[in-house]
Amino acid sequence: MSFEVTIEPLGQTIEVEEEQTILDAALRAGIYLPHACCHGLCATCKIDVLDGEVDHGEASSFALMDFERDENKCLACCAIPESDLVIEAEIEEDPDSRNLPVQDYQCTVSRIEELTPTIKGIWLKIADADGI
Ligand code: FES
Repeated sequence: MSFEVTIEPLGQTIEVEEEQTILDAALRAGIYLPHACCHGLCATCKIDVLDGEVDHGEASSFALMDFERDENKCLACCAIPESDLVIEAEIEEDPDSRNLPVQDYQCTVSRIEELTPTIKGIWLKIADADGI
């Protein structure tokens, strides 16, 4: 089962699959919603739900406080639709920007390099790079 989510102020409607977050579906549709941590911790992806119901998932109670949930806000990186939705996000439209939809690829790890003591760089070789 999937739900339709209309994103304002763009007026675009996307399909969100069962158990898929609003952020994931938007990015896969080529719509850039602001985000950072993608784990319900930073609140960068906070949006307004104008119509419909969401499951808040793993949203932290610090990033999305109870009063904000009562005001129909949610974190797009955690929120899973429970009905068709209308949401409103702060989207800065740059006419020169090029938003590429997120896609899945088969890859091989070609190199792993320690960039800092806590960060590793991972280089991937895409199996079918011609289609990109
Ligand atoms: S991107 Fe950080 S809370 Fe959603």
